[in-house]
Amino acid sequence: MSRLKQLYHHHIPARLRWPIGRLRRDLQDALLRLSRRHGPLPPRHVLLKVQSTPWVMEYLDIGRRSAARLQQVLGEAGLNAASRPQVLDLGSGLGRVLRHLEPSGWQLYGCDVDAWSLEWSRRVCDFAELRVNQNDPPLPWPEASFDAVYAVSVFSHFPTARQSRWAAELRRVLKPGGLAVVTTMGPWVFNPLPEGDETSADIDGFWFVPAGHGFNDSAAIHTEEGLRHFFDPHLEMLSWHRGGLDGFQDLSLLRRS
Ligand SMILES: C[S@@+](CC[C@H](N)C(=O)[O-])C[C@H]1O[C@@H](n2cnc3c(N)ncnc32)[C@H](O)[C@@H]1O
Repeated sequence: MSRLKQLYHHHIPARLRWPIGRLRRDLQDALLRLSRRHGPLPPRHVLLKVQSTPWVMEYLDIGRRSAARLQQVLGEAGLNAASRPQVLDLGSGLGRVLRHLEPSGWQLYGCDVDAWSLEWSRRVCDFAELRVNQNDPPLPWPEASFDAVYAVSVFSHFPTARQSRWAAELRRVLKPGGLAVVTTMGPWVFNPLPEGDETSADIDGFWFVPAGHGFNDSAAIHTEEGLRHFFDPHLEMLSWHRGGLDGFQDLSLLRRS
């Protein structure tokens, strides 16, 4: 901890640190928006559709880091940018990740059930083909359409029955040998671990915890074993990385054989 931080922690009582921190982030956010350096930014009130805080700084940072990590993982697994691979962002939301991938060389596609978010994201993802899809498969693309599909923070909210349906749908839209990256939350994120509902009770390493009305309010919690329960019938698990999406979610790399 820097000397300045030490002094801050020593002199400012804990009960004041949280509101001060929030004010600081609000101010940083306002300045970032005023600077117009980053092109269109989603209004503050819709950011909670894709993340747990209202700060656009986080939207930009998490999106940029996630995009870099996806390029690294998929590149190392053999996705060759020079061949202009077709890559789908399942649940692309406000384009938090997709907007950073234009320089990747990939041909980009995105889809989401939230028509408003998808429409907004056209402002920053005009290089991608974007389509609205339904809560359940199929996606509006024929089978074997993509060299890779990624889903950031989507399977971490799907209820139990949708986990299997969407794992099967990823297989359907992937070309043979195609790659998938799926990010999820492990039980280590929660202390204590909330009780799962009855739909998840018999699945080792999986808990579905319904809450609130929004998609993001409910949590789907997977260990590697829990994830395999849904994906093994459809895709081969190449690797699983705890905290592999920049420490923020676990990352699984899968392949259609
Ligand atoms: C936590 S947000 C993440 C958005 C984006 N992947 C990102 O990282 O910013 C989850 C997204 O999944 C979308 N979603 C929920 N159910 C879906 C489904 N069945 N098919 C596609 N997208 C879905 C939500 O509308 C929301 O945009």
